[in-house]
Amino acid sequence: MCGIVGILGKNPVALDVVEALRRLEYRGYDSAGVATLENGKLTRCRAEGKLRNLETKLSKEPLSGLIGIGHTRWATHGRPSVSNAHPHATDKLAVVHNGIIENFAEFRAELEADGFRFESETDTEVVAHLVTREMNRGLKPVEAVGAILPKLRGAFALAFLFSGEEDLLIGARNGPPLAVGIGDGEMYLGSDAFALAPFTTMIAYLEDGDWAILHRNSVEFRNVDGQVVNRQAQMVAAGAALVDKGNHRHFMAKEIHEQPEVVTHTLTTYIDMVSRKVRMPFSETLDWSKVDRLTMSACGTAYLAGLTARYWFESLARLPVEIDVASEFRYREPPMPASNGVAMFLSQSGETADTLASLRYAKSQNQTILSVVNVPTSTIARESHIVAPITAGPEIGVASTKAFSCKLVTLASLAIAAGRMRGVIDEAREAELVQELIMLPGLMTQALKTEVDISRLAQRLGKAKDVLYIGRGTSFPLALEGALKLKELSYIHAEGYAAGELKHGPIALIDEDMPVIVVAPHDHLFEKTASNMHEVAARGGRIILITDEKGASEISIKPDSTIIMPTMPSTFTAMVYAIPVQLIAYHTALGMGKDVDQPRNLAKSVTVE
Ligand code: G6P
Repeated sequence: MCGIVGILGKNPVALDVVEALRRLEYRGYDSAGVATLENGKLTRCRAEGKLRNLETKLSKEPLSGLIGIGHTRWATHGRPSVSNAHPHATDKLAVVHNGIIENFAEFRAELEADGFRFESETDTEVVAHLVTREMNRGLKPVEAVGAILPKLRGAFALAFLFSGEEDLLIGARNGPPLAVGIGDGEMYLGSDAFALAPFTTMIAYLEDGDWAILHRNSVEFRNVDGQVVNRQAQMVAAGAALVDKGNHRHFMAKEIHEQPEVVTHTLTTYIDMVSRKVRMPFSETLDWSKVDRLTMSACGTAYLAGLTARYWFESLARLPVEIDVASEFRYREPPMPASNGVAMFLSQSGETADTLASLRYAKSQNQTILSVVNVPTSTIARESHIVAPITAGPEIGVASTKAFSCKLVTLASLAIAAGRMRGVIDEAREAELVQELIMLPGLMTQALKTEVDISRLAQRLGKAKDVLYIGRGTSFPLALEGALKLKELSYIHAEGYAAGELKHGPIALIDEDMPVIVVAPHDHLFEKTASNMHEVAARGGRIILITDEKGASEISIKPDSTIIMPTMPSTFTAMVYAIPVQLIAYHTALGMGKDVDQPRNLAKSVTVE
């Protein structure tokens, strides 16, 4: 989760770039760097570590120039070092990047074969060379960027500066946010409006797939197809808080949309993108090979993240798992292993009263306490032996969204680590699973594109009195999460069920007025879920199917609506399928005029039992 900046100014820009980076340092501080044009020539200053190291370097070797880009880094590909620090440059251009270029390895091999020399271990450097190759073939900067953007896979925001081009910056967005700031004869790019607040309050946001061509007196936005589009600038209050809504109507919408980016941040904590290995966090204090049982407890959406992870700990690490909601667990007096027991508590806030009480009970039973939290200074974190932070950033919407996916990524990484330590999976399988995790931000970005269809579907759903969600495997907890989200936001009665349980009761409810939302990626359980869909269809039920192309083509009944998801490997579909599930609840409630950020009777942090 890096921060990027670009400035086309009237005065020397290097110090303004640093000022904007200071406001983005919360996104990462493994290194920082600035590039400017001095008399048309690219010049750079980069330093490892915090921004102040860059400032010290710049005070000794100042950069002049009226145009520049800057970067503050949270390392993904390649360790923190000066050579891996952005901006990355060739003789033609410099580039800064936030996110992951998933297909960088294949480009790197191809470019090296073409004679390009790499100076870093980053995925970003391939972008610099790809654009350079197009320019060497005679394309102008704008054409060259336009030619390579469609080739990049993953989730990314980019800013480019070109040698000899004193009045041109290019920004591009596919996933992570990017804002354009409009000044008086000056133009800015930044990861958020807060970064640009010292310079301008007129902000236009790039939409997914957009790229922007900036000159001092104009900005042109193009969409993913290269067509010129209009992106309205809006006034953003100066000094806008660190946590603003961006260009979204609600915090919940913003938090749903920033999932590809925050998940990237979580991934960098738990996996090494270059070696394709999972980091073994806290291996000194927690040896998974010696654990006899994992007990999990949590409330609400956090509990459902745990329920999802149970499948991974069981299948990838062959570890017995017990899980219960904290309000029951704390009073059940469950027996726990006398030794070698790990108890895991999941909580966004780290303050939920029932979860905390469960933690204290487990502690009294001599369990090793591992908490998976978003607020590392919280009570639950402080009272744990080991803390696994999910690094989702502040979550404001009462209904938890991004904390859910960041928890899942954390838990998936821990399950892989446990599987390795317990000898259940080998290095090759680990690399495969890690690769599947690395693909998530890109897949989540694609999943967000279902929003237009979902907002249409939500208008009909808003008229329902009851809704049923079904799924199997990790799609079962997602069915529960879908029902939970829909009822808490729209106040429509909803139930989540294991698809196979339908015939043991809820099937009696099905009639032509009852929408049944089926979460069914084309995995090893798809055929089983398909049979359950037939049972619903035979009773006149209205099916809303969330699946991929293959699932959609194989099902012989005709659902009322089908939401087509990207094709992906089957282990970690939950993180990607969570997005339509969240969007359905959000748009249904929105269409019904409900307060999506603060639904009635609910609270974000429940510190009472
Ligand atoms: C409340 C919130 C939910 C959340 C649950 C657990 O009910 O509305 O969104 O999932 O508490 O909160 P925690 O902070 O422990 O994750």
